[in-house]
Amino acid sequence: MTSRSGGLEGVVAGTSAISSIDGLAGKLTYRGIDIFDLASDATFEEVAHLLWHDELPTQSQLDGLLNELSAAYALPPPVVDALRLVPQSTPPMDALRSGVSMLGAFDPDLGDNSLEANARKSVRLLAQVSAVVATFARLAAGNEPITSAEGPVADAFLQMYTGERPDETAARALDVLLVLQADHELNASTFAGRVIAATLSDMHSAVTGAIGALRGPLHGGANQGVMEMLIEIGSPDAAEDWVRERLARRELIMGFGHRVYKTADPRATILRGMSRELSRTSGHPEWFEISQVIERVMMDEKGIDSNVDFFSATVYAALGLPVNLFTPIFAMSRTSGWTAHVLEQLGDNRLIRPRAEYIGHTDRAYTPMAERG
Ligand code: CMC
Repeated sequence: MTSRSGGLEGVVAGTSAISSIDGLAGKLTYRGIDIFDLASDATFEEVAHLLWHDELPTQSQLDGLLNELSAAYALPPPVVDALRLVPQSTPPMDALRSGVSMLGAFDPDLGDNSLEANARKSVRLLAQVSAVVATFARLAAGNEPITSAEGPVADAFLQMYTGERPDETAARALDVLLVLQADHELNASTFAGRVIAATLSDMHSAVTGAIGALRGPLHGGANQGVMEMLIEIGSPDAAEDWVRERLARRELIMGFGHRVYKTADPRATILRGMSRELSRTSGHPEWFEISQVIERVMMDEKGIDSNVDFFSATVYAALGLPVNLFTPIFAMSRTSGWTAHVLEQLGDNRLIRPRAEYIGHTDRAYTPMAERG
């Protein structure tokens, strides 16, 4: 019965028709459509509809979705009050995890685990996750939250975070980031969410658990680690030695490596171009220059490519977003994929309950307390 593959590497743990990765070819598709085409032509809301319903939306379906999102950005007031109680120094991912958990208690479909109710929860959560991130970011900075917004998620998030209508370039760049991070097959957070959903628990529990998994530095938390590394390195001249020293100490370099891709991550390829352009126009060309040196050294030394988190970091930074919001914004995007996977899981559910190969002691006698020691 045994599989000793550490971290379930290479284990096919289920079926899915949502996204597919060809790790050798470096190809990613959502519902069969190449990520390059979606990043260049689709909006995030078209992608969310595609992930949920297996088809791109018609214009009227897209308009309907945008209306539903606009109606859902205003958080239930008790959730805003609860976020006021969270210490300002709390990492925003922790505040998001708590906020989403609490949103479950105020959901109009509370207690209804039908596919129809979960589809409605998916739309609401897509809007509300961005609202929680923006609300907590404002509170943590000592500002009053902006409790409503309208339009696409990227645009609405920037409205709720900055208090101003975003310029078109920034909104489109964020929209592309959301498209690129929307889904990625059985990544750790999605798997966590599906395991929770498969117990017939609720959508909010699944998304809360998924947020907890995304938070870790080996998963979504890597984008924050990338920017902290670039800031610490400071200049392109210092980058090579910095990386070589870390590698000599067998430390991980954030934003490199992937369990599935054995070649370039296509999302990193798209983001590299955006990073080059936006680092220059935002007045920080050094971020891209340092990144290029790190990529070269990682390829020379380890033969490892960058992943989605490497160049997304500099794109976020060029948009003026603070480092501790990078992973929460990843969560805003991945909420579309998580909820699509919960819907898929519930559409043909069976409890996910693997086995472990037992490697512990056997046949031990119980030792009374007086004889231990
Ligand atoms: N820096 C230095 N060495 C690395 C790195 C890295 N980022 N990634 C892998 N390696 C080395 C690793 O040390 C090992 O070398 P050796 O065989 O000499 O011990 C070899 O490459 C294989 O690595 P692994 O740890 O077996 O690979 P894995 O499939 O278990 O881990 C990973 C995949 C993504 C967790 C890992 O590459 C990593 O920790 N990367 C840094 C964190 C990161 O960027 N995470 C984001 C992942 S992609 C998007 C997302 O999920 O958010």
